[in-house]
Amino acid sequence: MTIPEFQSQKGKKQLVVVTAYDALFTRVIEQAGIDVILVGDSLGVVVQGKPDTLSVTMDDMAYHTRLVAQSRQQALVIADMPFMSYQVSEERAIHNAGRLIQAGAMAVKLEGGGAMVDRVRALTTVGIPVMGHLGMTPQFVHRFGGYKVQGREQSQADTLVTDAKALEMAGAFALVLEAMPATLAQSVTQAVSIPTIGIGAGPHCDGQVLVLYDLLGLFDEFVPKFVKPYAHLKADALQALRRFKEEVECRKFPTDQESYR
Ligand code: KIV
Repeated sequence: MTIPEFQSQKGKKQLVVVTAYDALFTRVIEQAGIDVILVGDSLGVVVQGKPDTLSVTMDDMAYHTRLVAQSRQQALVIADMPFMSYQVSEERAIHNAGRLIQAGAMAVKLEGGGAMVDRVRALTTVGIPVMGHLGMTPQFVHRFGGYKVQGREQSQADTLVTDAKALEMAGAFALVLEAMPATLAQSVTQAVSIPTIGIGAGPHCDGQVLVLYDLLGLFDEFVPKFVKPYAHLKADALQALRRFKEEVECRKFPTDQESYR
């Protein structure tokens, strides 16, 4: 999947995006034929165990991007720009996005509307493809006062549509729309000619993304309404670990079968 191929799917096929942070799951995701792998800064929460994404660093993102990129075969790999890696200046944004591209990402994603238009233009001008991210942008958690649905009020909704168009004009090749009313996501999707990828944004986007550990039922500390667990791997892991403990303790494991003669 290249960026032009990804863009050409708008209105033809629903695009499928999942997050990944390591080589093993990247291989599984590739086998499932997923279109796009996002190395999300959600790794701060699901891998590092932090309460939010704000402490994720450029070194963290470059490391996990390398792990994913080295196992990538077909999927488009996009890496998140972490908090404060692009807000301060255009120069810093270009330098940091360049690091993620050198780590193997084919594009970067950054959060924010109107204020980020210049950053998106600066990055696309030097040849770095950028995905925008609007709505409930987790790096704004303190400004929003928590993880709350955005765009319920008309003025907010109008701003979101304006921001989406401005990001497209600045060169963004796609947009993530997170936690907003489905009708608003539909308006944004109709207002731009680039693909929109929804997460908690209803069924009218051009594709959908979920955090891998949510989708697999591995992370259950905070499960938003928009998450659908397609497996229950935490329950399976717990059961396996308890059985292992029990069998070791009562000397049922290892048997001859697992021993060398
Ligand atoms: O960090 C992330 O995983 C994301 C997705 C939830 C869109 O930004």
